Amino acid sequence: MTKSRDETRIYNKNKFKLGLFGMNCKGGLSLTKAPESWDASWDNNVKAAKAADEAGLEFLLPIGRWHGYQGSSDTQGTTFETIAWACGLLASTREITTFGTLHVAFVNPVFAAKQMVTADHIGHGRFGLNVVSGWNPIEFGMMGVPLGDHDGRYDYADEWLEIVNRVWSEDEPFDFDGRHYKLKAVRGKPKPWWGTRPILVSAGNSETGRTFAANNADCLFTTVPPKLEDLQEKLKFFRDAAPPGQLRNIFASCHLMVRRTRKEAEDYHHYIVYEQGDWESAEYAFNLRGSRINSWLKEDEKKLKARLISGAGVPIVGSYDDAVETMLRLNSVGLDGFAMGMINYVDDFPHIRDELLPRMERAGLREPQHRAATAAE
Ligand SMILES: Cc1cc2nc3c(=O)[nH]c(=O)nc-3n(C[C@H](O)[C@H](O)[C@H](O)COP(=O)(O)O)c2cc1C
Repeated sequence: MTKSRDETRIYNKNKFKLGLFGMNCKGGLSLTKAPESWDASWDNNVKAAKAADEAGLEFLLPIGRWHGYQGSSDTQGTTFETIAWACGLLASTREITTFGTLHVAFVNPVFAAKQMVTADHIGHGRFGLNVVSGWNPIEFGMMGVPLGDHDGRYDYADEWLEIVNRVWSEDEPFDFDGRHYKLKAVRGKPKPWWGTRPILVSAGNSETGRTFAANNADCLFTTVPPKLEDLQEKLKFFRDAAPPGQLRNIFASCHLMVRRTRKEAEDYHHYIVYEQGDWESAEYAFNLRGSRINSWLKEDEKKLKARLISGAGVPIVGSYDDAVETMLRLNSVGLDGFAMGMINYVDDFPHIRDELLPRMERAGLREPQHRAATAAE
């Protein structure tokens, strides 16, 4: 039984932590028509969450998504709302940290603060929030909320989070007179499970987004540039900019296709992308996300579409040993782990549990599950 939020599994001493990413969404991170692609049914979500919990993975991170990537696969077009999803999984698991993801512009902060406290009590302090300022004009249109300008969305997120933090921490009712909210006699009980706020994460990547993440997050997600020294510089920025002692983990996202040999993994990748890829969906995603895609990827449109089909984040396509080598390299400059997408979170999991985790243990990246001490010990 844990005794403080510091003992939550995501704060254990494993050098390279792992989480499942995007399994609340049909298709996960990949735009493929392959028949084995992810069916995000509730029962499948519970199965994958329990397997990850039992294997000692640190976290589950959903995607807050309201509108999918179209085409016949329509990846992320069928999704569970993430706070309700987290509540169900927190009740079904024992130790794994489970995040919800909120687009702050779509939810009143006083309502959200209570909703998250409820999740945090269900999980006995294992709940965390990914604070998202949003980018997709179609989703904002659906909600009837103006998208506004990019930095304005982070200004809104700052105020939203200030209100939430006050609801979580203040005992006396307070009035709030902000740029976006004018509130009277705000109160919220119960307080979060340990009396301290739930774990906050952010994945801002622009200059404003990175500053927001550094100022507010306990754990954050960043993108991995091609050059290792650029990643190192990015990680240094976050660690220097964060308030002392607050930032505990910096993660990246990846999609994983690992097999016994590199050839098997590459063949599988070819099948997913070139034989079963949903290129119509890739065209849609390319047009929607084009302006947000980093310039080093923009060079070759076909390659970029193939990458969008394969999955979001760093592609880990290779043997189990290749995957561990990449993790060692990224960890050597200070990356603390991966949020992993995969084609099928249930069927692919045995590759991770039985092949990848033991290799990571032998490489010193992780301790065997029962010995993964928490930072508080
Ligand atoms: C691991 C990870 C998870 C993310 N999850 C979501 C999400 O669930 N919903 C969403 O709309 N955006 C999500 N994003 C996008 C970020 O919140 C952010 O908008 C993006 O990285 C661009 O950065 P910027 O907002 O600073 O321009 C995610 C990004 C990453 C790297």
